[in-house]
Amino acid sequence: MFTFKVDSRSSSGPLLPLQSLMAMSAHLRDNGSIFWLLTIGLAGFITLSSAASDKPNIIIIMADDLGFDDVSFRGSNNFLTPNIDALAYSGVILNNLYTAPMCTPSRAALLTGKYPINTGMQHFVIVNDQPWGLPLNETTMADIFKENGFRTSLIGKWHLGMSQRNFTPTERGFDHHLGYLGAYVDYYDQNYKQMSKGYHGHDFRENLKSTHDQVGHYVTDVLTDAAVQEIDDHGSKNSTQPLFLLLSHLAPHAANEDNPMQAPEDELAQFGYILNETHRYYAAMVSRLDRSVGRVIEALGRQDMLQNSIVLFMSDNGGPTQGEHSTTASNYPLRGQKNSPWEGGLRSSAAIWSTEFERLGSVWKQQIYIGDLLPTLAAAAGISPDPELHLDGLNLWSALKYGYESVEREIVHVIDEVEEPHLSYMRGKWKVISGTTSNGIYDGWLGERVTSGEVNPRSEVYDDLIRNTSVWQLLQQVSSGKRNITGLRKQASVECVEPSTGIRPCLPQLAPCLFDIEADPCEQSNLYEEYRNSTVFLELWQRIQQFARNAHPPNNKPADPKCDPRLYRNEWTWWQDEKASTAAQMIHFSWLLMGTLYSLTMI
Ligand SMILES: *[C@@H]1O[C@H](CO)[C@@H](O)[C@H](O)[C@H]1NC(C)=O
Ligand SMILES: *[C@@H]1O[C@H](CO)[C@@H](O)[C@H](O)[C@H]1NC(C)=O
Ligand SMILES: *[C@@H]1O[C@H](CO)[C@@H](O)[C@H](O)[C@H]1NC(C)=O
Ligand SMILES: *[C@@H]1O[C@H](CO)[C@@H](O)[C@H](O)[C@H]1NC(C)=O
Ligand SMILES: *[C@@H]1O[C@H](CO)[C@@H](O)[C@H](O)[C@H]1NC(C)=O
Ligand SMILES: *[C@@H]1O[C@H](CO)[C@@H](O)[C@H](O)[C@H]1NC(C)=O
Repeated sequence: MFTFKVDSRSSSGPLLPLQSLMAMSAHLRDNGSIFWLLTIGLAGFITLSSAASDKPNIIIIMADDLGFDDVSFRGSNNFLTPNIDALAYSGVILNNLYTAPMCTPSRAALLTGKYPINTGMQHFVIVNDQPWGLPLNETTMADIFKENGFRTSLIGKWHLGMSQRNFTPTERGFDHHLGYLGAYVDYYDQNYKQMSKGYHGHDFRENLKSTHDQVGHYVTDVLTDAAVQEIDDHGSKNSTQPLFLLLSHLAPHAANEDNPMQAPEDELAQFGYILNETHRYYAAMVSRLDRSVGRVIEALGRQDMLQNSIVLFMSDNGGPTQGEHSTTASNYPLRGQKNSPWEGGLRSSAAIWSTEFERLGSVWKQQIYIGDLLPTLAAAAGISPDPELHLDGLNLWSALKYGYESVEREIVHVIDEVEEPHLSYMRGKWKVISGTTSNGIYDGWLGERVTSGEVNPRSEVYDDLIRNTSVWQLLQQVSSGKRNITGLRKQASVECVEPSTGIRPCLPQLAPCLFDIEADPCEQSNLYEEYRNSTVFLELWQRIQQFARNAHPPNNKPADPKCDPRLYRNEWTWWQDEKASTAAQMIHFSWLLMGTLYSLTMI
C-alpha cells in the first residue's frame, strides 16, 4: 500500500520559511516576542502538515539529584555512564537545560509548563507530613497528552502532593502509576522515615493500591522493570496509540537519613578503586541508573518503537554535594548545588534523541527551561496547548528539531520570599542573583573532578566502551551517521577560565549580583557594581519585581500530625480523605444504630 502524506519528519517542506526565519532571528534577538510569534506560526504550519502522521512516543527518564558532572559525557572519568553517554552522543546534548533548584518546584514546572511562582510551588519541597500539593486547577502535561490520545504512565517518584487522593498521579492525568508519592523511599523496603517526627511508613503503590511485592528488590531495577514492561506491553499490542512514559527514578537521591547510600553488591563491586565509601556507593547508584537507560532503549528497540519515539534523559535539579541528603554528587565546575540560586543547582545534564532531529550528534547551546518541555514535546506530537493555560514555557520544538540556538530565553529560576528571601533570574546572557539559601554555606564551588588515582580503568578505552553499548548500536541502526565522540565530549565540558572582567566576588546577602553567564558560566565575575545604574540592569530588576508582584502565594502548609502512617496500617496515604472516610463511617454507623434502636422501639 502506498499512501502519500506530508510528514513533519521529512525536512523538505518547512525549510524555506525556516531559513528566512533563522536569518531573521539574528536581527530579532532583542525582540523575543516577535520572534516567538513567528516561530509559533511555523510550529502551527508543521502541525497542520503532519496531521496525518502518527504521534511519537515520548519517553522521559528523570534522575533525582544527579550532579552536573555525574554523567561522563561532560568529561569525568571517575565513574562512567556509557549508556547515558551513548544516548547523548547519538542524540542532541541539551547543554543549557535549566530546571528549578529543588525537586517539587522542578516537577511542578515540568508538568505544568509554568514557573513555580505562578503555581504557588516556589518554596522548598513538600515534606511528607504537609497537606499541600500542585493546585487541582492546574492542567498537567499528562492531562494534555491523555486528552490527545496518549497512554500516560508515571513510573517512580511523584512528590507533587498526597494528602488528598485528588493530588495523586492517577487523578492528575496519568492512566498508570507505579511508585511512591512522597519525597523518597528506602531503595529496598520502600519505606519513608521522617526521623524528626518519628514517622515511618511504606510508600509504594500501583495506581491507588499499596503494593508490597517490591519489598526486598532494588528500586532502580523495580522501576526499570516496570518501564520495560510498559514498553513491551505497548509494543506487543501493536496499537496506534502513542505512549507518554515518565520514568521518574529515585536514583541517585539519598535514601532515609539512617541509611542514605544503597546499591546492589554486584554494582558496588565495580568501584573498588573508589576509596571513599560514600562515593563508592554513589558511583554504584548512578551506574545502576545508567543501566536503566540502557534497558529502556533496548526495550524500545525490541519493540520497533525507536523510529517513532523521542527519548529524553535529564536530572530534576543539581546534585547535593554537601548538607541535607548529600551524596558526594558533583556539579563541577559550576558554582553552588541543589537548593541554591547558582548554576550548580539549576543546570541539568540532559540529552534528547529522536529521528526527527536534523543535527543528531551535536551539542545544542540554546537555553531551555524545564517548563519549555511541555509545549515543546506537545508540538512534537502536533498538539497546541490551549492558550488559556497561560504557559510560561516556550515551544522550542522547531529550534530543537533544526538545531538553531538564537532564541533569547528569559527564565525565572527562583523567586522565594519565605524564610530566606532569594531570587535567581536570567535573560539571555544576563543572570541576576540576590539573596541566597542556607545562609550562604553552599555559595562556593563545591564539586571536584578526579583526574588521577580514582579513575575508572575502562576510561582508557572510552570510545570503544560507548560504541559497544546496545544503546549506541540500536540508535545507529535507526539513524546512522558519523559521531565524533571525543569532539562532543569536549564540547559538552565546561571550563572555568578567568573571565576578561576578572574575579569579582558576589556576596548575594549584601547586594544583588550580575553575571554574564555566557562568558562566565562559573559565576566568578560579579558585574553588579559596573552595571547597577545601567538600563541593562535596571530593566532586568524591574522585570524581576514585576514577576514577584504577580507571584501566586506559596501553597506550603504546616505539618499535620494526622498524616502519621501508624494510623493507616503503616502506610503513607491521603490522610485527609482517610480522615473524612473514617468520619463518614462513624456517621453511617450511628445512623445504623439509631435505625436499629428505632425499629426495636417499634416492636
Ligand atoms: C487556580 O486557583 C487559584 C486560586 O483561586 C488562582 O489563583 C489560579 O489562578 C488558578 N489557576 C488556574 C490555572 O486557573
Ligand atoms: C502491526 O500492525 C500493522 C498495521 O496495523 C501491520 O502491518 C504489522 O504487521 C503489525 N505488526 C505486528 C508485529 O503484528
Ligand atoms: C567521604 O567523603 C565525604 C564527602 O567528601 C566525607 O564527608 C566523608 O567523611 C568521607 N568518608 C570517609 C570514610 O572518608
Ligand atoms: C567491545 O566488544 C568487543 C566484542 O564483544 C570486545 O572484544 C571488546 O573488549 C569490547 N570493548 C570494550 C571497551 O568493552
Ligand atoms: C574530533 O574532535 C576532536 C576534538 O575536537 C578533533 O581533534 C578531531 O580532529 C575530530 N575528529 C574527527 C574525525 O573529526
Ligand atoms: C550608581 O549610582 C550610585 C548612587 O546614585 C552611585 O553611588 C554610584 O557611583 C553609581 N555607580 C556607577 C558605576 O555609576
